[in-house]
Amino acid sequence: MPILGIESTCDETGAAIVEGTAVRSNVVASQVDLHARYRGVVPEIASRAHIENILPVIQEALDTARITLADIDAVAVANRPGLIGSLLIGTTAAKTLAWALRKPLVGVDHVAAHLYSVCLDNSPPVPLPAIGLVCSGGHTALYHVRDFLDIQLLGSTIDDAVGEAYDKVAGILGLGYPGGPILDRLAHQGDSRAVAFPRSLLGRDSLDFSFSGLKTSVLYHVRGFAGRQREARVLGESEINDIAASFQAACVDVMVEKLRRAARRCGAHSVIIGGGVSANRGLRSAMENFSLPVFFPPMQYCTDNAAMTAGLGQVLLAAGRVGELDLDAIPQSQFLDGSN
Ligand code: KG4
Ligand code: ZN
Repeated sequence: MPILGIESTCDETGAAIVEGTAVRSNVVASQVDLHARYRGVVPEIASRAHIENILPVIQEALDTARITLADIDAVAVANRPGLIGSLLIGTTAAKTLAWALRKPLVGVDHVAAHLYSVCLDNSPPVPLPAIGLVCSGGHTALYHVRDFLDIQLLGSTIDDAVGEAYDKVAGILGLGYPGGPILDRLAHQGDSRAVAFPRSLLGRDSLDFSFSGLKTSVLYHVRGFAGRQREARVLGESEINDIAASFQAACVDVMVEKLRRAARRCGAHSVIIGGGVSANRGLRSAMENFSLPVFFPPMQYCTDNAAMTAGLGQVLLAAGRVGELDLDAIPQSQFLDGSN
């Protein structure tokens, strides 16, 4: 039976119909154009756009899958973590539908859904336990994934998420938004050894991340050191490519090293990498020779989408983890303190 998934945690309004791991439809209304001029997501603008988009997006997901609301088995919604105003729109829509249709309601943690995204589209089964890395605009964290119902936090960023660093560095370089895909493309035309940006590893055993120092290094490289800052130099094309390549190499080195540490510590059988930055070509090629099998999502499920919400919703439904109509929108992840 098909399950309807709803995603509205940040700036994408998504709805999807998933059956097993087969995605029958996956509709995403992107708000990138609304936020681009601010070089980041403006929460109030995001909430308003979700209100406008949510019903047409759900209808399009049903139409594309050639079903009606009566055909769905359950409603799954990413009710955490995210921007509270954004979360409220999807959560309210899901609760209303579940109540009106008298179908089960399933609350899904968006971070766990990013991990689950590697299972979609009949991808090969992931040997568990796995080390999970969620790297996106809002999150950069490592998890021990015993299975998709048993996930423990191992470490997370103490400042910026890696995708956020990409977006800010793109801003420093005068490039567009979101910065990740642009820098990824430019990095392939540049020399990754051109600038020795720092790799912040936070001590020998740490599984936490820090990207704000790296971001500041790029700023200083472009504008001069703190206190002696000058106006942004006009950078030539090849210099921008070299900075992009060197910045990307620093981000990738840190993520790969943290994955190595986590894999050594947990005795995992595989690695799962999800979230917007999992689309990164530099990261994908750096993981090619990793000591464990590595699973990335199909490209269309790297950034925020509702297919991963519906997919994990189905796993939760099968395990009897059904929500009530008082399901809350919650800004924090369920896996924040690692104690679940
Ligand atoms: O997963 P996502 O859609 O939203 C969050 O949950 O945060 O991730 C969006 C982030 C943005 O910061 C964007 O710049 C980054 O993912 N991103 C990339 C790439 N594609 C998207 N970063 C690096 N390389 C990419 N190819
Ligand atoms: Zn996300």
